[in-house]
Amino acid sequence: MNQSSTLDDLYREIAPDLARVEVEIAASLADDEPVIAEMTNHASRFGGKRLRPALSLLVARAAGGITPRHARLGAVVEMIHLATLVHDDVIDGAGLRRNQPTVNAAWGNYEAVLLGDVIFARAINLLARLKDERALLSLTTAVSRLCSGEILQNRHRRDVALSEDLYYQIIESKTAELYAAGCELAAHLAGAPDLVLRNLSTYGRELGIAFQIVDDCLDLVGDEKIAGKSLGTDLEYGKMTLPLILFRNTSGPRERRLLESVISGGCAPAEEVRRLVSLLSRDGAVDGALARAREHVERASVAARRVLPESAWAPLEALGEFVIRRRI
Ligand code: FPP
Ligand code: MG
Repeated sequence: MNQSSTLDDLYREIAPDLARVEVEIAASLADDEPVIAEMTNHASRFGGKRLRPALSLLVARAAGGITPRHARLGAVVEMIHLATLVHDDVIDGAGLRRNQPTVNAAWGNYEAVLLGDVIFARAINLLARLKDERALLSLTTAVSRLCSGEILQNRHRRDVALSEDLYYQIIESKTAELYAAGCELAAHLAGAPDLVLRNLSTYGRELGIAFQIVDDCLDLVGDEKIAGKSLGTDLEYGKMTLPLILFRNTSGPRERRLLESVISGGCAPAEEVRRLVSLLSRDGAVDGALARAREHVERASVAARRVLPESAWAPLEALGEFVIRRRI
């Protein structure tokens, strides 16, 4: 399948609705103070393809139809995502996002933390104006879980023994919850019944898990020029991600010592990092993690197929395919 044309087709079909999402985001992030306007304008470009609003719109279309409120929902979800990226780049000390300097690189950590708060507050303001209790409860719960996931992740930095269960708990919280909420609420605002809501929430959660596993693989073996963001920060900060867990579970004592040195040792020599990365590819750990991501995309499809006719689930499957194949 030609991935980019499929994705382009999908985006073309929802282009007018995505344009409405852009209008909502721009209006919400506008500021009379030029200093703040410049910063929010810079950060609003971090969303790239606007995957989360596109997902909400495609789910809405599949579950009963896009309404004017979906543009607002898409904008809220995207702005929450943008705020988390601004904070995440401070935490990761990242310098590049979407081929632009991160907010912390451009204006320093002090202002980046506060700008993340500004964007998050504007997102909640817009959410309040949606006047939907379910959306308010579900999205604020998702943000709270997202922060818990980040705290848990930090507690387990440099923990070579991190279990697969805990890894999944972390990525479900920090990434998949927001996907699940965005899909569930899109179906809710489209007037879909409970069974559809539950299955589309599962669709979003499984897609989000797959997205993060692919992200974790790209952090190790991706190309910064293609991804447009800082890579390699997971090893630098000792984050045990799925490819590393799979490598640990199958490697011999020498490889395991190398892994321990890179993960728990603080700043490992660049040569050790390079050797570990090449072993991760050679011994199949990255492919194993990508195969796992594919399983989650398949689970997402099963959930969508359970409640939707083929014409409705086919676009959602195409989005799953993009999540697996993406290099950005
Ligand atoms: C990306 O992780 C980060 C997240 C999915 C969530 C980060 C969330 C926070 C820092 C909390 C923010 C809280 C509020 C209230 C705004 P990653 O580093 O694996 O992905 P990356 O490769 O895109 O950097
Ligand atoms: Mg990061």
